[in-house]
Amino acid sequence: MLLEVKNISKSFGKVKAVDNVSFSVEEGDSVGLVGESGSGKTTLARILLGLLKPDLGDLQFLGRDRSLTYPYNISKIAQIVFQDPQNSLNPRMKIGEALEEPIKIHKTNAKVAELLELVGLPKDYANRYPNALSGGERQRVGIARALAVEPKFLILDEPVSALDLKTQVQILNLLKDLKSKLNLTYLFIAHDLSVIKYLCNRILVMYKGRIIESGPAELVFSSPAQDYTKRLLASVL
Ligand SMILES: Nc1ncnc2c1ncn2[C@@H]1O[C@H](COP(=O)(O)OP(=O)(O)OP(=O)(O)O)[C@@H](O)[C@H]1O
Ligand SMILES: [Mg+2]
Repeated sequence: MLLEVKNISKSFGKVKAVDNVSFSVEEGDSVGLVGESGSGKTTLARILLGLLKPDLGDLQFLGRDRSLTYPYNISKIAQIVFQDPQNSLNPRMKIGEALEEPIKIHKTNAKVAELLELVGLPKDYANRYPNALSGGERQRVGIARALAVEPKFLILDEPVSALDLKTQVQILNLLKDLKSKLNLTYLFIAHDLSVIKYLCNRILVMYKGRIIESGPAELVFSSPAQDYTKRLLASVL
Protein backbone atom coordinates (compact mmCIF):
# COMPACT_ATOMS: atom_id res chain seq x y z
CA MET A 1 0.00 0.00 0.00
CA LEU A 2 1.37 3.38 -0.97
CA LEU A 3 -0.74 5.44 1.39
CA GLU A 4 -3.02 4.56 4.24
CA VAL A 5 -5.10 7.24 5.93
CA LYS A 6 -6.89 6.34 9.15
CA ASN A 7 -9.44 8.48 10.94
CA ILE A 8 -7.90 11.84 10.09
CA SER A 9 -9.64 14.93 11.48
CA LYS A 10 -8.77 18.61 11.33
CA SER A 11 -10.82 21.55 12.59
CA PHE A 12 -10.35 25.26 12.12
CA GLY A 13 -12.25 26.75 15.03
CA LYS A 14 -15.78 25.39 14.71
CA VAL A 15 -15.30 24.23 11.11
CA LYS A 16 -14.58 20.51 10.80
CA ALA A 17 -12.60 20.81 7.58
CA VAL A 18 -11.67 17.11 7.61
CA ASP A 19 -13.87 14.84 9.68
CA ASN A 20 -12.76 11.29 10.45
CA VAL A 21 -11.48 10.46 6.97
CA SER A 22 -10.05 7.03 6.13
CA PHE A 23 -8.97 5.63 2.80
CA SER A 24 -6.04 3.94 1.16
CA VAL A 25 -4.19 4.33 -2.11
CA GLU A 26 -2.42 1.48 -3.85
CA GLU A 27 0.58 1.96 -6.08
CA GLY A 28 -0.59 2.71 -9.60
CA ASP A 29 -4.01 3.92 -8.47
CA SER A 30 -5.54 7.07 -9.81
CA VAL A 31 -7.91 8.19 -7.09
CA GLY A 32 -10.35 11.00 -7.76
CA LEU A 33 -11.33 13.18 -4.81
CA VAL A 34 -14.46 15.16 -5.62
CA GLY A 35 -16.62 17.50 -3.63
CA GLU A 36 -17.96 21.02 -3.67
CA SER A 37 -15.95 24.07 -2.69
CA GLY A 38 -15.13 24.08 1.02
CA SER A 39 -15.64 20.33 1.48
CA GLY A 40 -12.07 19.92 2.75
CA LYS A 41 -10.18 18.58 -0.27
CA THR A 42 -7.18 20.92 -0.12
CA THR A 43 -6.99 20.64 3.66
CA LEU A 44 -6.78 16.87 3.28
CA ALA A 45 -4.09 17.24 0.60
CA ARG A 46 -2.03 19.48 2.88
CA ILE A 47 -2.30 16.94 5.68
CA LEU A 48 -1.12 14.15 3.35
CA LEU A 49 1.89 16.22 2.33
CA GLY A 50 2.85 16.83 5.94
CA LEU A 51 2.24 20.58 5.65
CA LEU A 52 -0.58 20.53 8.16
CA LYS A 53 -0.87 18.48 11.31
CA PRO A 54 -4.19 16.68 11.79
CA ASP A 55 -5.90 16.94 15.19
CA LEU A 56 -6.45 13.20 15.16
CA GLY A 57 -5.62 10.18 13.07
CA ASP A 58 -2.78 8.27 11.48
CA LEU A 59 -1.24 8.29 8.12
CA GLN A 60 1.27 5.93 6.61
CA PHE A 61 3.28 6.22 3.44
CA LEU A 62 4.76 2.92 2.30
CA GLY A 63 4.01 1.40 5.67
CA ARG A 64 5.87 3.97 7.71
CA ASP A 65 3.89 5.88 10.31
CA ARG A 66 4.14 9.55 9.51
CA SER A 67 1.80 10.80 12.17
CA LEU A 68 4.32 11.31 14.92
CA THR A 69 6.54 14.21 13.91
CA TYR A 70 5.34 17.32 12.14
CA PRO A 71 6.19 18.88 9.86
CA TYR A 72 7.56 15.81 8.12
CA ASN A 73 9.17 15.75 4.75
CA ILE A 74 7.91 13.30 2.17
CA SER A 75 8.70 15.50 -0.80
CA LYS A 76 10.77 12.77 -2.44
CA ILE A 77 7.72 10.50 -2.41
CA ALA A 78 4.82 12.90 -2.86
CA GLN A 79 4.50 16.16 -4.76
CA ILE A 80 1.61 18.50 -5.44
CA VAL A 81 0.51 20.31 -8.58
CA PHE A 82 -1.72 23.31 -7.91
CA GLN A 83 -4.60 24.77 -9.85
CA ASP A 84 -2.82 27.92 -10.87
CA PRO A 85 0.93 27.65 -11.41
CA GLN A 86 0.98 31.43 -11.61
CA ASN A 87 1.02 31.37 -7.83
CA SER A 88 3.69 28.72 -7.46
CA LEU A 89 6.13 30.01 -10.09
CA ASN A 90 8.34 32.94 -9.16
CA PRO A 91 7.76 35.60 -11.87
CA ARG A 92 11.40 36.70 -11.66
CA MET A 93 12.79 33.22 -12.14
CA LYS A 94 13.34 31.76 -15.60
CA ILE A 95 11.65 28.41 -16.25
CA GLY A 96 15.06 26.71 -16.34
CA GLU A 97 15.92 28.09 -12.91
CA ALA A 98 12.53 27.11 -11.52
CA LEU A 99 13.18 23.53 -12.62
CA GLU A 100 16.79 23.58 -11.46
CA GLU A 101 15.76 24.50 -7.90
CA PRO A 102 14.11 21.21 -6.83
CA ILE A 103 16.83 19.23 -8.65
CA LYS A 104 19.47 20.97 -6.53
CA ILE A 105 17.55 20.81 -3.26
CA HIS A 106 16.81 17.10 -3.60
CA LYS A 107 19.99 16.25 -5.49
CA THR A 108 18.18 14.25 -8.14
CA ASN A 109 19.48 13.22 -11.55
CA ALA A 110 16.75 15.03 -13.47
CA LYS A 111 17.78 17.37 -16.29
CA VAL A 112 15.97 20.57 -17.21
CA ALA A 113 15.92 19.78 -20.93
CA GLU A 114 14.57 16.28 -20.30
CA LEU A 115 11.87 17.57 -17.94
CA LEU A 116 10.73 20.09 -20.54
CA GLU A 117 10.61 17.40 -23.18
CA LEU A 118 8.70 15.09 -20.83
CA VAL A 119 5.90 17.66 -20.48
CA GLY A 120 5.90 18.56 -24.17
CA LEU A 121 7.65 21.94 -24.07
CA PRO A 122 10.52 23.08 -26.31
CA LYS A 123 13.95 23.13 -24.65
CA ASP A 124 14.44 26.86 -25.22
CA TYR A 125 11.54 27.59 -22.86
CA ALA A 126 14.19 27.25 -20.15
CA ASN A 127 15.18 30.82 -20.95
CA ARG A 128 11.67 32.25 -20.70
CA TYR A 129 9.97 33.85 -17.74
CA PRO A 130 6.57 32.51 -16.57
CA ASN A 131 4.69 35.52 -17.94
CA ALA A 132 5.83 34.59 -21.46
CA LEU A 133 3.91 31.30 -21.26
CA SER A 134 0.24 30.45 -21.73
CA GLY A 135 -1.77 29.02 -18.83
CA GLY A 136 -1.48 25.52 -20.25
CA GLU A 137 2.27 25.86 -20.75
CA ARG A 138 2.68 27.15 -17.20
CA GLN A 139 0.77 24.16 -15.91
CA ARG A 140 3.16 21.93 -17.87
CA VAL A 141 6.01 23.64 -16.02
CA GLY A 142 4.18 23.06 -12.71
CA ILE A 143 4.01 19.36 -13.55
CA ALA A 144 7.68 19.28 -14.64
CA ARG A 145 8.68 20.92 -11.36
CA ALA A 146 6.82 18.29 -9.37
CA LEU A 147 8.44 15.54 -11.44
CA ALA A 148 11.94 16.97 -10.95
CA VAL A 149 12.25 15.17 -7.61
CA GLU A 150 11.16 11.86 -9.15
CA PRO A 151 8.20 11.25 -6.83
CA LYS A 152 6.01 8.14 -6.77
CA PHE A 153 2.85 9.98 -5.89
CA LEU A 154 1.32 13.17 -7.31
CA ILE A 155 -1.48 15.10 -5.71
CA LEU A 156 -3.14 17.17 -8.41
CA ASP A 157 -5.29 19.87 -6.80
CA GLU A 158 -7.68 21.08 -9.51
CA PRO A 159 -4.87 21.05 -12.08
CA VAL A 160 -7.03 21.95 -15.07
CA SER A 161 -9.78 24.10 -13.53
CA ALA A 162 -8.18 27.37 -14.63
CA LEU A 163 -7.79 26.28 -18.27
CA ASP A 164 -10.07 26.38 -21.30
CA LEU A 165 -11.62 23.14 -22.50
CA LYS A 166 -9.14 22.37 -25.28
CA THR A 167 -6.17 22.94 -22.97
CA GLN A 168 -7.81 20.87 -20.24
CA VAL A 169 -7.95 17.90 -22.60
CA GLN A 170 -4.30 18.37 -23.59
CA ILE A 171 -3.13 18.49 -19.97
CA LEU A 172 -5.27 15.49 -19.01
CA ASN A 173 -3.76 13.53 -21.91
CA LEU A 174 -0.30 14.53 -20.72
CA LEU A 175 -1.10 13.38 -17.17
CA LYS A 176 -2.42 10.09 -18.49
CA ASP A 177 0.77 9.51 -20.52
CA LEU A 178 3.05 10.49 -17.66
CA LYS A 179 1.28 8.17 -15.30
CA SER A 180 2.01 5.09 -17.38
CA LYS A 181 5.46 6.24 -18.50
CA LEU A 182 6.68 6.95 -14.96
CA ASN A 183 4.53 4.48 -12.99
CA LEU A 184 2.98 7.28 -10.99
CA THR A 185 0.13 7.15 -8.52
CA TYR A 186 -2.36 10.02 -8.53
CA LEU A 187 -4.73 11.68 -6.12
CA PHE A 188 -6.71 13.87 -8.44
CA ILE A 189 -8.77 16.60 -6.79
CA ALA A 190 -11.59 18.15 -8.79
CA HIS A 191 -15.15 19.30 -8.61
CA ASP A 192 -15.67 18.49 -12.27
CA LEU A 193 -16.66 14.84 -12.41
CA SER A 194 -16.02 14.52 -16.13
CA VAL A 195 -12.33 15.13 -15.49
CA ILE A 196 -12.27 12.39 -12.88
CA LYS A 197 -14.11 9.97 -15.12
CA TYR A 198 -11.44 10.35 -17.76
CA LEU A 199 -8.50 9.70 -15.49
CA CYS A 200 -9.44 7.84 -12.32
CA ASN A 201 -10.05 4.22 -11.41
CA ARG A 202 -11.37 5.01 -7.92
CA ILE A 203 -13.50 7.80 -6.55
CA LEU A 204 -13.83 9.41 -3.14
CA VAL A 205 -16.72 11.81 -2.68
CA MET A 206 -16.17 14.39 0.04
CA TYR A 207 -18.92 16.43 1.65
CA LYS A 208 -18.50 18.72 4.65
CA GLY A 209 -15.21 17.14 5.62
CA ARG A 210 -16.36 13.54 5.33
CA ILE A 211 -15.87 10.89 2.68
CA ILE A 212 -19.51 10.04 2.05
CA GLU A 213 -19.00 7.65 -0.83
CA SER A 214 -16.11 5.70 -2.29
CA GLY A 215 -15.55 2.91 -4.74
CA PRO A 216 -14.44 1.91 -8.23
CA ALA A 217 -15.05 4.75 -10.70
CA GLU A 218 -17.44 2.80 -12.96
CA LEU A 219 -19.56 1.79 -10.01
CA VAL A 220 -19.81 5.28 -8.53
CA PHE A 221 -20.70 6.68 -11.94
CA SER A 222 -23.17 3.98 -12.92
CA SER A 223 -24.91 3.50 -9.58
CA PRO A 224 -24.10 6.19 -7.03
CA ALA A 225 -25.32 5.27 -3.57
CA GLN A 226 -25.67 8.75 -2.12
CA ASP A 227 -28.08 11.48 -3.18
CA TYR A 228 -25.25 13.97 -2.97
CA THR A 229 -23.21 12.00 -5.52
CA LYS A 230 -26.28 11.75 -7.77
CA ARG A 231 -26.63 15.52 -7.64
CA LEU A 232 -22.94 15.99 -8.38
CA LEU A 233 -23.30 13.71 -11.40
CA ALA A 234 -26.48 15.40 -12.58
CA SER A 235 -24.93 18.85 -12.37
CA VAL A 236 -22.15 17.97 -14.78
CA LEU A 237 -23.18 15.23 -17.14
N1 LIG B 1 -5.95 27.84 7.27
C1 LIG B 1 -7.28 27.84 7.47
N2 LIG B 1 -7.82 28.54 8.49
C2 LIG B 1 -9.15 28.52 8.73
N3 LIG B 1 -10.02 27.82 7.99
C3 LIG B 1 -9.56 27.11 6.96
C4 LIG B 1 -8.16 27.09 6.63
N4 LIG B 1 -7.99 26.29 5.55
C5 LIG B 1 -9.23 25.84 5.21
N5 LIG B 1 -10.17 26.33 6.05
C6 LIG B 1 -11.60 26.02 6.00
O1 LIG B 1 -11.75 24.62 5.91
C7 LIG B 1 -12.82 24.27 5.02
C8 LIG B 1 -12.29 23.40 3.91
O2 LIG B 1 -11.45 24.18 3.04
P1 LIG B 1 -10.65 23.55 1.82
O3 LIG B 1 -9.80 24.61 1.24
O4 LIG B 1 -9.99 22.32 2.28
O5 LIG B 1 -11.83 23.18 0.82
P2 LIG B 1 -11.75 22.66 -0.69
O6 LIG B 1 -12.62 21.45 -0.75
O7 LIG B 1 -10.34 22.53 -1.12
O8 LIG B 1 -12.47 23.84 -1.49
P3 LIG B 1 -12.19 24.37 -3.01
O9 LIG B 1 -12.89 23.38 -3.92
O10 LIG B 1 -12.87 25.70 -3.06
O11 LIG B 1 -10.72 24.45 -3.22
C9 LIG B 1 -13.42 25.59 4.57
O12 LIG B 1 -14.51 25.88 5.37
C10 LIG B 1 -12.30 26.59 4.78
O13 LIG B 1 -12.81 27.87 5.03
MG1 LIG C 1 -9.18 23.43 -2.64
